[in-house]
Amino acid sequence: MGFLTSAALSATGYVVLDRDERSVDPSEWLDLEYIGWRSSGITRFAPLASYAGDLECNGFWNHTPPRADKDGVWVRSQIEKAPTLQRLALEPDANVGRCRVIELQPNTYADAIYNLHQDDNNRLNDDGTGWVVRSWRNLTDDADSLLILRSDRFDPTTEVRLPLPTGSRIIVDTQRFWHAVWHRGGAPRYALITSWTSGPELDAYIADGNGDPNPRSVDLPEALVAEAQAEMHRRIEERRLAFEAHGIVMEPPAPLN
Ligand SMILES: [Fe+2]
Repeated sequence: MGFLTSAALSATGYVVLDRDERSVDPSEWLDLEYIGWRSSGITRFAPLASYAGDLECNGFWNHTPPRADKDGVWVRSQIEKAPTLQRLALEPDANVGRCRVIELQPNTYADAIYNLHQDDNNRLNDDGTGWVVRSWRNLTDDADSLLILRSDRFDPTTEVRLPLPTGSRIIVDTQRFWHAVWHRGGAPRYALITSWTSGPELDAYIADGNGDPNPRSVDLPEALVAEAQAEMHRRIEERRLAFEAHGIVMEPPAPLN
């Protein structure tokens, strides 16, 4: 049968929507309650919708009973402080799973490459229902920072780099793409991250925002990319050996390239 997917996302797996010019009062993200949650880089998360409306970030499949990343329950104490963010998450009228604000500390390009990961949004998702994708809406103005996407984790020629100014809106099939953010700012970056279920509602929202499946990717100097590749392989190997010393097989050996 297959999952219900978005035609707009099927071309490349991601779309950039028109920038949202509406401003959001910074108190909506600064006054939230954040919890430490390891993602990619030095991050904290402020959950807005969770498995049962509690202040926690765990995947819905890690609860009892487990379920797919759908039907998130709003965290009352948080959305009281962030009504606009809740409205933004509800705007497409698509089902909302996990919804949170991410706080990311400045990092390097090599950090970002090392942190590349795929999400697991569709674990336990039922065949025949909507495929879960991820949206980012940048809250701070991080025009020099880049969302990095790779279809092949180790191949920089598959890389797409999308800038993150205030109001930038990007929707990605994050189970298909390896992704991480290179945040070049001097202060933390904040973004609203929402799991949305694909379907006609999301398609209409993407069309309304002129979703572009072929946005311009920012160029980087070849030497910087090569250096980061070497550093990524060095760190992966270092981590593999560290875990191996404890009898844990953490990573497959780094490929030769
Ligand atoms: Fe992710």
